[in-house]
Amino acid sequence: MTDTAKFALDGKEFEYPVMSGSVGPDVVDIRKLYAQTGAFTYDPGFTSTASCRSALTYIDGDEGVLLHRGYPIGELAEQSSFMEVAYLLLNGELPSADELQTFNTTITRHTMVHEQLAAFFRGFRRDAHPMAIMCGVVGALSAFYHDSTDIHDPVQRTIASHRLIAKIPTIAAMAHKYSVGQPFLYPDNSLSYTGNFLRMTFGVPAEPYEVNPAVERAMDRIFILHADHEQNASTSTVRLAGSSGANPFACIAAGIACLWGPAHGGANEAALNMLREIGTPERIPEFIARAKDKNDPFRLMGFGHRVYKNYDPRATVMQKTVREVFDALKVNDPLFETALRLEEIALSDDYFIEKKLFPNVDFYSGVILSAIGFPTEMFTVLFALARTVGWVAQWNEMITDPDQKIGRPRQLYTGPTQRSYVPVAER
Ligand code: SDX
Repeated sequence: MTDTAKFALDGKEFEYPVMSGSVGPDVVDIRKLYAQTGAFTYDPGFTSTASCRSALTYIDGDEGVLLHRGYPIGELAEQSSFMEVAYLLLNGELPSADELQTFNTTITRHTMVHEQLAAFFRGFRRDAHPMAIMCGVVGALSAFYHDSTDIHDPVQRTIASHRLIAKIPTIAAMAHKYSVGQPFLYPDNSLSYTGNFLRMTFGVPAEPYEVNPAVERAMDRIFILHADHEQNASTSTVRLAGSSGANPFACIAAGIACLWGPAHGGANEAALNMLREIGTPERIPEFIARAKDKNDPFRLMGFGHRVYKNYDPRATVMQKTVREVFDALKVNDPLFETALRLEEIALSDDYFIEKKLFPNVDFYSGVILSAIGFPTEMFTVLFALARTVGWVAQWNEMITDPDQKIGRPRQLYTGPTQRSYVPVAER
C-alpha cells in the first residue's frame, strides 16, 4: 500500500500518512483530519477504526487465525497453560521454567482476598446474577488495595495486575458459593491456578475435594481460549476507562460490565439457553427461520463475529474439548448433538454462508461448562475470569503507550439547532 492516503473535501486535497504493522491491514493516520478539514470521520461500532497500536493479539478474520504474541491459539491451547499464556501476554515472551515458577508463585500468593470483602456479598440477594456480583465486588477492590492504584508507578501497576489475575477466581468462586448458599472456601496454595478455582467453586468444608485432572486441563484450556482478543468491546471499555487515569480495579469492573451483554460475553449463557429452548434437532428449522427473519430480533447465539468471517479457531478447540470432558466425566448431553446439527444446518444455509456467520467461541462453551457442573449464570463469569488476563495486559500496554490520550470520540449531531428558552407560561 502507498505511504500516504489522499483525501479530497470541498475542492481541497489532503494527504495522510499510511502506517503498517507487522502483519494485517495498514492504517491511515487521520489524527490531524479534523484540524485540517473541519470534518469528523463516521464509524459507528468502529468497524473500520483502529483505536490503538497493540502487540498482544492478532486476528485474521478471513483466515480464522488468532495469535497471542505471535503464537497460534491452537498451539497454545494444546501445549501451554493459562498461567503461561498470562505471562506471555503480560511480558511478550514465553517464560523459562524458572520465570514460570516465579510467576505462578507470585500469583498464588495473591489469591486470598481481604477478609472484609466477604461482607460485600451479604448485600446481594441470593438470586443475584453472579455477573452483577462481579461488577460490584471487583469495583470495590480499589477500596481495599489503595497501595496499588497509582497508575504512574510501574511497581504498583505490576502488583495491581497480579492482584487482579490472582483474585478474580477467588471472587468468581465466592459469587457462585453465595448464590448456592454454601460457605466460601479459602484458596489452597498447593493447587494450580485452575485446580484452585475448581476446588473453591465445587469443594465444601465438610470433605476433601479431589481435582479431576481431565476437567482441570479442559478448564485451563477454556481459560486460554478466552484470555485476549484484540480490541473487542470489553477490552475497548477497559482501555477507555483507563485512558482517564481510573485505577485498574475500576477499569476491570467496567470491562466486566461490558462483557455481560448477550452480544458479547453474555452469548455463552444465551447460546446454551437457546439450545435448551430448541431442545431437539427437529425444532432447528424453526429457529433458523427466526434467525433469518428481519422482523424477528432473534439471532443464533454463539454465531457470527465482527472480525471472524471464517470459523472461529477457538470454537474448533472448544468442540474437541466437549468430547474430552464428556469422556472424562462419562456424561453425554443431547444438547451437544443439537448444537452439532444446528451448526451443520446453519453452515449449509445460504443466509449464513452469504453473511459468513460461523460458530464463535461461545457456541460450544456452554455445553462443556454445564457438563462440568457450572450453572448457566456462571458462564460469563468464567469468561470474565479468563479475560481479566487480557484486560490487564491491554491496560498495561495502553498506560505505557506514548500515543495514548484520554479517549473522547466526537459525533454527528442531529438534534435541534440553537433556540431560545420559552417560559412554561408561554408554552
Ligand atoms: C464475543 O469482538 C470480539 O472479539 C468478541 C469476542 C471476544 O473474544 O472478545 O470474540 C467474544 O463477543 C463473540 C460474539 C458472541 N456474540 C454472539 O454470539 C451473539 C450473536 N452474534 C451477533 O449478535 C453478531 O454476530 C455479533 C454481535 C457477534 C457481530 O455483529 P456485527 O459484526 O455487528 O454484525 P452485524 O450485527 O452487522 O451482522 C451482520 C449481518 C446482519 O444482517 P444484515 O443487517 O446485514 O441483513 O449478519 C446478521 C445480522 O442480522 N447476523 C446474524 C447473526 N449475527 C449477525 N443473523 C442471525 N444470527 C446471528 N447470530
